[in-house]
Amino acid sequence: MKKLLDLITEELEQAFVDAGYEKELAKVTLSNRPDLCEYQCNGAMAGAKKYHKAPIAIAEEVVGKIPTDGIIGAAQAVKPGFINLKTDEGHIAGYLNRMLSEERLGVGKEASPRTIMIDYGGPNVAKPLHVGHLRSAIIGESIKRITRFMGNHVTGDIHLGDWGYQMGLIITELKKRQPDLPYFDDGYTGEYPEEAPFTIGDLEEIYPAASAYAKEHDDYREEALEATFQLQNGKPGYRALWQHIMNVSVADLKKNYENLNVEFDLWKGEADAQKYIPDMVQRLKDEGFAHLDDGALVVDVKEDADTKEIPPCMILKSDGAALYDTTDLATLVEREKLYRPDKVIYVVDKRQELHFVQVFRCAKKTGIVREDTDLQFLGFGTMNGKDGKPFKTREGGVMRLEHLLADITDKMREKIMDNRTVAEEEAESTAKIVGLSAIKYGDLSNQASKDYVFDVDRFTSFEGNTGPYILYTIVRIKSILKKYEDTGKSLSDTEIVGAKGEEEKALMLEAAKFSGILQTVYEELAPHKLCAYIYDLANVFNRFYHDTKILTEEEEQRQRSYIALLKLTRDILMTCIDLLGFEAPDRM
Ligand code: ARG
Repeated sequence: MKKLLDLITEELEQAFVDAGYEKELAKVTLSNRPDLCEYQCNGAMAGAKKYHKAPIAIAEEVVGKIPTDGIIGAAQAVKPGFINLKTDEGHIAGYLNRMLSEERLGVGKEASPRTIMIDYGGPNVAKPLHVGHLRSAIIGESIKRITRFMGNHVTGDIHLGDWGYQMGLIITELKKRQPDLPYFDDGYTGEYPEEAPFTIGDLEEIYPAASAYAKEHDDYREEALEATFQLQNGKPGYRALWQHIMNVSVADLKKNYENLNVEFDLWKGEADAQKYIPDMVQRLKDEGFAHLDDGALVVDVKEDADTKEIPPCMILKSDGAALYDTTDLATLVEREKLYRPDKVIYVVDKRQELHFVQVFRCAKKTGIVREDTDLQFLGFGTMNGKDGKPFKTREGGVMRLEHLLADITDKMREKIMDNRTVAEEEAESTAKIVGLSAIKYGDLSNQASKDYVFDVDRFTSFEGNTGPYILYTIVRIKSILKKYEDTGKSLSDTEIVGAKGEEEKALMLEAAKFSGILQTVYEELAPHKLCAYIYDLANVFNRFYHDTKILTEEEEQRQRSYIALLKLTRDILMTCIDLLGFEAPDRM
């Protein structure tokens, strides 16, 4: 289906042409004086110079050419030369009915679908999942759903941090605590036990303990670095331990992400990239891309147009060890080999931007990816507490994700029980659903690149620009529709027929904007614009609701029209929250 704005623009273009002016002047925008009109065009002002005519004269001629039976219901030329437009209700109603009848509410699919990979989540195995990783998961999941909804072939990859120093730390600490385990016996030739010698609870205690100890004790730190090195070089006992750490951690991560409604198609990680490194490095050397700089192997990536210094991409340290750059390049080698993506989107903390500039340039320059592969860095800002500093627990420690979720769920449960609309058993699952909307909407409604303040009280409020408010609106619509059905009437033989009141027309227009908004959200990868839209839509709906007697309306056709409009509003809101990564309960 065409976008509403395009339909209006096309009609106005024809009027410009019929009046003897170029159609490029017919640029239509939303009105900035909603009290006067719905849409406006300032093209007559722009055309005045070119056609040596007073703008108002042009505006009047164009208005005279607008057909009387089109989507533009009323047009007015206003001094000094504005064209004010109002849409025709009948046409809008027809448009909305088509949305209702079409799959995906009339949103067209991408004409040439692309293979897109989304690198998001990025947790570090064995370290507890904390709020720092929350944003990547929330934003990435929404980007995945939006790009997929538009018809692309999308794969989400968690890209675990599973190959670093933290693994060496855990191995070293285990060796200190349980030196008799077979993993540490170099002469051991049997099979290693199937069962891990630790639980997730142990790991969560071992890692911070080891990390803190290493900071104070150089020899211990050396040992951990050595263990990391041996693991990376394939020492069997350490590989077996690594596998245990992976199994235990990944099971725990899966549970956590499931609670967040975040689902990855691939659970690959840095470790998977390692096998591509030797060949890649050899080729970079052979083809003259890499050179030695102070003992390290690097690829220059600076460009003439740079305004600030872009250091070379580091391929190998002087001791031969691979680095973060190396791993991300090798991951691209693997992605190119296995999936051949047209585009890779990295949803990562914006403080890592320089790293990605280096990696992207190096990958392009050296042919690791194709010339036209679109590598995009979607950097996000920090989630701060009310004090403006990175979000912490009340005691000042690092906030664990599951504690944050539990806190919000508790708060939601209290509110829901106060409302007394759901039974106690249902309150628990409802609290989870609504709590998640509070967190996700609170995050996504901010432009991703900006820092934002995680304000629990504001985010969990049922009023204002919040997830719970959006859900409350959906629940309200669902309840009216259910009551309507309970009177024995069917939801399916309803049809929107033009508006009676202003609030109703406003709701119709807002609903009609859906596909246009979604297109922008998709092109700009901007979930915050989807949030802004559903907030507007919910507000317009609630004004209509307070203004209109729906269930007691006696004129049947009118009532059916209201119901159809409600259905459409519900469907749009439900589609949008799904694209944002949360869902709505039946009651709350
Ligand atoms: N594990 C990394 C971190 O916690 C994030 C990974 C981001 N993705 C990537 N391909 N480098 O900082």
